[in-house]
Amino acid sequence: MGPNGRIFRWISAVALLFILTAGSTPVTSLLTGETVAVIGTGRVGGALGPRFAKLGYVVVYGSRDPTQAKVKELVARTGEHASAASQRDAVKKADIVVLAVPWTAAEGVIKGVGDLDGKIIIDVTNAIRMSDDGHMERAVETSGAELIQSWAPGAALVKAFNVMSYLVMADPSTAGGPVTVPVVGDDREAKQKVREIIEAMGFESEDLGPLRNAQYLEGMAVLYMVPLLEGRMADSFEYYLRKNPERYGPSTSTEVRAAE
Ligand SMILES: NC(=O)c1ccc[n+]([C@@H]2O[C@H](COP(=O)([O-])OP(=O)(O)OC[C@H]3O[C@@H](n4cnc5c(N)ncnc54)[C@H](OP(=O)(O)O)[C@@H]3O)[C@@H](O)[C@H]2O)c1
Repeated sequence: MGPNGRIFRWISAVALLFILTAGSTPVTSLLTGETVAVIGTGRVGGALGPRFAKLGYVVVYGSRDPTQAKVKELVARTGEHASAASQRDAVKKADIVVLAVPWTAAEGVIKGVGDLDGKIIIDVTNAIRMSDDGHMERAVETSGAELIQSWAPGAALVKAFNVMSYLVMADPSTAGGPVTVPVVGDDREAKQKVREIIEAMGFESEDLGPLRNAQYLEGMAVLYMVPLLEGRMADSFEYYLRKNPERYGPSTSTEVRAAE
C-alpha cells in the first residue's frame, strides 16, 4: 500500500472511532480503508463496486480495458477513491478480490493476475451452463469455487453473492423483503469478514459450511434461473432463509454445555 493508502486507512480508522463513540449514531460503514479489487465491470461488478465504496473500501476495478467508456462511467459513479486498472494491477493493490467475470473466463483471469497469496477472493461466479435440452445445469463435477481455490491455493476463497440478482446487490430494497446471502469457505476468519460486509450492505448472511458445499450454492443458481429462463418473470425470487431461534429453546451445543 502506498502513502496515500496509508493516510486514507488512518483517516478511516479515526472516523470509525468517532462514529463508534458518538452515542446512538448507527455504524453504517465499515470504514476500513482496505482496497477491494473488483475484477469485471459488468452487471455484478457495477453493482458491488459502489456498495463496497459506500462501506469505506478503496475500490479499484480490474478490467481488460480500463480506458473503456463504461469503466470510466463506473469509476465516476463509484466515488472519489475509486479507480480502474488492468486486472493484474488491480489485484496487486488489493486486500480483497471480487471475481465478477463469466465462469468461462475465471481460470484465465485467476491464473493471469499474479500473486493472490493472503488475499480474500470473493467468488460470485456460477459454473453453470445451458444443457442441450435448454435447461441450466452445473458445468463441473465439484464446484467452480473449489477449482478457483485450486488455481490460487494461497488465497482464502469465500463464495458469496452468487444466488441473487445484480439489481438486488445494487439496491436491496428491490427484493421487496429480506434476502439471505449464503456463504461458504474453508477460512473461518475470511468467511466472517465477508459476512460482516454482506450484513453492512443490508442483507442477511448464512454460513453454510466449508468450500466443498459450494456445489450446492451453484445448484441454487440453477434453480434461481428456472423462472427467468421460462419467461415467468413474475415468479422470479430471491433466497431468504427464515429462522426461528425460539423453536429449539436454549442452545445445547458442546460449547454451551462445556461452560455450564
Ligand atoms: N448478473 C447477475 O445477476 C449475477 C448474479 C449472481 C452471480 N452472477 C455471476 O457473476 C459473474 C459476472 O456476471 P455479470 O452478470 O456481471 O456478467 P457481465 O455483465 O457479462 O460482466 C462480466 C464482466 O467480466 C469481464 N470479463 C473478463 N473477462 C471476460 C471475458 N473473457 N468475456 C467477457 N467478460 C469478461 C468484463 O469486464 P471488463 O470488460 O471490464 O473486462 C465483463 O463486463 C458471472 O460468473 C455470473 O454467473 C451474476
